[in-house]
Amino acid sequence: MLLEVRDLDVRYGRNHAVKSLDLDVAEGEIVTVLGANGAGKTSLLRALQGAVKTTSGSIRFAGRELAQSVPAERVRHGMALVPEGRQIFVSMTVHENLLMGAYLRRDSDWGRDLKQVYDRFPNLAERRDMKASVLSGGEQQMLAIGRALVSRPRLIMLDEPSLGLSPLFVANLFDLIVELNRSGISILLVEQNTGMALDIAGRGYVLELGSVVLADEAQALAGNSALTQAYLGGGHAAAN
Ligand SMILES: Nc1ncnc2c1ncn2[C@@H]1O[C@H](COP(=O)(O)OP(=O)(O)OP(=O)(O)O)[C@@H](O)[C@H]1O
Ligand SMILES: [Mg+2]
Repeated sequence: MLLEVRDLDVRYGRNHAVKSLDLDVAEGEIVTVLGANGAGKTSLLRALQGAVKTTSGSIRFAGRELAQSVPAERVRHGMALVPEGRQIFVSMTVHENLLMGAYLRRDSDWGRDLKQVYDRFPNLAERRDMKASVLSGGEQQMLAIGRALVSRPRLIMLDEPSLGLSPLFVANLFDLIVELNRSGISILLVEQNTGMALDIAGRGYVLELGSVVLADEAQALAGNSALTQAYLGGGHAAAN
């Protein structure tokens, strides 16, 4: 197993945001995590990234226990987060943003990964020296993904990457995620765009109030319409 999460808890004071959560991602898999607003999806990813402390539990990645390690160490071992709301540095250039993804690398090979990102996203190459603030929402999402790719991840965790994008761009984004997965990167995808996420994922987890209430093959979850109504709340159906 590439990522093996056991009994993970996240608390903010008295607010118990993630409760005793178990989750696996095998090498090569696309796994999706679904849930209504406030279900704990972002808290889960931030705990995996190391930005919030876990009060208990185990995070094994590629055979190493990382639950107590700092975010930089997790990046070095191959975990990369594309955070909710992209979190790019709008006052920095496109190129400077991408360099942020490389700065933790210990090897000298990151130039090649940077070039691959520019080859993959010609729009970013053309805007290399422009401030990231001039990018469209779609291009900013590409930049956030490009920044993750420059760290040469084995697992990319994406937090609602489709949010705020036009339907055409959402379709491109999902194609890109599939392409990255085919190139050998495992994917943990948090989405409120349930239909599209289950379409590309192999397996899925549904969170409610910080707990996993359903875990199954993506196809089985997609065929279970009671699920979307019961756990995902209004407005989070496929159309999003
Ligand atoms: N920094 C924080 N301090 C205190 N409580 C928080 C903090 N961040 C999140 N929470 C709470 O933790 C719970 C889970 O929030 P989280 O953001 O993880 O959910 P989510 O599933 O990502 O929701 P959304 O779909 O809105 O992004 C919520 O009750 C939220 O109010
Ligand atoms: Mg969230």
